[in-house]
Amino acid sequence: MIETVEKEILTLVDEIGYSEITRLFGTLAGGKRLRAKLVLEIAGSDVTAPRLGAIIELIHAASLLHDDVIDDATLRRGAPSVNATEDSKTAIMLGDALYSKAYSTLVSYDEAVAKTVADAVTALSVGELMDVRMSENFNADADAYMDMLYLKTAALIEASAKAAALMMGKDAEAYALYGKNLGISFQIIDDILDIVSDEATLGKPALHDYEEGKCTLPYIYLSESLQGEERERLLSYHREKLSAENAAWIKAKMKEHKSVERSYALAQKLSDKAVAAVAGDERLVGIIESMMKRSF
Ligand code: FPP
Ligand code: MG
Repeated sequence: MIETVEKEILTLVDEIGYSEITRLFGTLAGGKRLRAKLVLEIAGSDVTAPRLGAIIELIHAASLLHDDVIDDATLRRGAPSVNATEDSKTAIMLGDALYSKAYSTLVSYDEAVAKTVADAVTALSVGELMDVRMSENFNADADAYMDMLYLKTAALIEASAKAAALMMGKDAEAYALYGKNLGISFQIIDDILDIVSDEATLGKPALHDYEEGKCTLPYIYLSESLQGEERERLLSYHREKLSAENAAWIKAKMKEHKSVERSYALAQKLSDKAVAAVAGDERLVGIIESMMKRSF
């Protein structure tokens, strides 16, 4: 089924009409296609569903191209990022082309469907700027972190589920709730994997979030658990290159205070909420379960 989306993606990229864009796009690794899978699961019987899935994946790809420039990242999905192999200008322009093509294709959908996706892209952009601003100083506010996370990551996942439901005349709010909670727990798992996994498995550097300034949930929880000199020590490593010794200290403290377990418990709670929103839909429950168990 997902092959129908892959085909639509290539068609849309070819339709842009410039071989250099097709070539550059061909260097990108595809990723998990979580958003397109949701569209297919919810609206698979509509012939225009694969194209909507492709539109959303192009928007997602564009956002990652720009994000890698913003984050100075060199690896994406296990391969060198476009800003590293080419340059930042190329990554931005490729992102712009994919994003614009996605939009010009989106306008042929029903207005409510198109608006759902378009609004999510605004949310994404706000979330990314919030993320950058919040990374400038140590952020110990879990609620502010969760608000940013919803906008940056969950909004487009929520929109994928909601737009697909709107296409089918299904209960859009229930599917939106599913997508929102799936999206937030997806990002919490991402944050946990940065701490517990390694570069080979992740396809991007491990233990990198804190160096980049990102105080993800396990760091926020750890900062709540530590006091005095230990808390000062944690804060002093924010936005710094971590030595092996200091990285090991952070991991040991997280183990002692169960910071990762606490984060996982919240992801689980949100996943349960997502499951409850679409009670009985086995395949959507399956998507959540494999997302919670993933290693990359
Ligand atoms: C990855 O976050 C980034 C996102 C999920 C969203 C990025 C959004 C934008 C750049 C704004 C929208 C732009 C367009 C062109 C639609 P991360 O850095 O925490 O994750 P990572 O570790 O995978 O890089
Ligand atoms: Mg990034």
